[in-house]
Amino acid sequence: MIKPVSLDVPRGHAPPKLQARQLSKSFPSPSGPVQALAPFDLSVDKGDFLCVVGPSGCGKTTLLNIVAGFETPSTGSVTLDGKPIRGPGAERGVVFQQGALFNWMSVQENVAFGPRACGVSVAEARDRASQLLDLVGLNGFASKYPYQLSGGMQQRVGIARALANDPDILLMDEPFAALDQQTRELLQEEMRRIWQRTGKTVIWITHSIEEALFLATHVLVMASRPGRTKAAFESSFSRSDDPYLAASPEFAAARRTILELLRSEAAKAQRLEEMHP
Ligand SMILES: Nc1ncnc2c1ncn2[C@@H]1O[C@H](COP(=O)(O)OP(=O)(O)O)[C@@H](O)[C@H]1O
Ligand SMILES: [Mg+2]
Repeated sequence: MIKPVSLDVPRGHAPPKLQARQLSKSFPSPSGPVQALAPFDLSVDKGDFLCVVGPSGCGKTTLLNIVAGFETPSTGSVTLDGKPIRGPGAERGVVFQQGALFNWMSVQENVAFGPRACGVSVAEARDRASQLLDLVGLNGFASKYPYQLSGGMQQRVGIARALANDPDILLMDEPFAALDQQTRELLQEEMRRIWQRTGKTVIWITHSIEEALFLATHVLVMASRPGRTKAAFESSFSRSDDPYLAASPEFAAARRTILELLRSEAAKAQRLEEMHP
């Protein structure tokens, strides 16, 4: 089941893990500034699994890059545990769509890289890498190099690497977008398990509504040009262990609700693009 919720303001008694206030971002372009994100508010609680969906170009990656500390907001602020984000930090683990591994390092070295950079000893970093490779089901692949692995395995290494510094929050930008359907579903199940086991806060961008419903405690549907909240929902599907969840009428109804929101947004975005290419 999904039910509408406001993610603009803190929901719990505890202060939110992450809070964006009046956040906006515009980029310069030859034909004038492009407003990627409108001033918008967002609050994410500790342990939330927030899935963000929205039409292409609505500012999802921009939002994630600001939270990751790779971009700075044009206006407003983002705080993590009440502290403003001023740049990248080890308490935020990032996983990209694909290809962010170091090709010249073994799987083990890729995962151990973050802890080593933070001053963890060689032996401890190696132990930590082994545990994480177990967690993502890559036991036995430690000495392989990224090019020797399938796309799905590379994304698992990416997840293990993002977890290696024991971050408070995982930021994932369409991490499974380049994978085939079967691999995707397997990794979604694995991600659910990892989230349940570690209790991390996750912000997960996806263009798959099914993926969002399968994983999320909360779904944010973004409107485009400029990017902002169109709707937000609380979702209980991620707690279900029904193997046929996707075939249930409740799931289909939720999927349809989100699909309709996205369709109207995509049509609007297309009209705007035709008017202001
Ligand atoms: N570095 C940049 N310079 C100029 N424009 C950018 C830059 N990054 C993103 N944009 C623009 O901002 C808007 C949002 O982009 P993005 O965040 O990548 O969207 P999404 O990830 O939802 O597809 C798009 O119109 C895009 O062209
Ligand atoms: Mg993107």
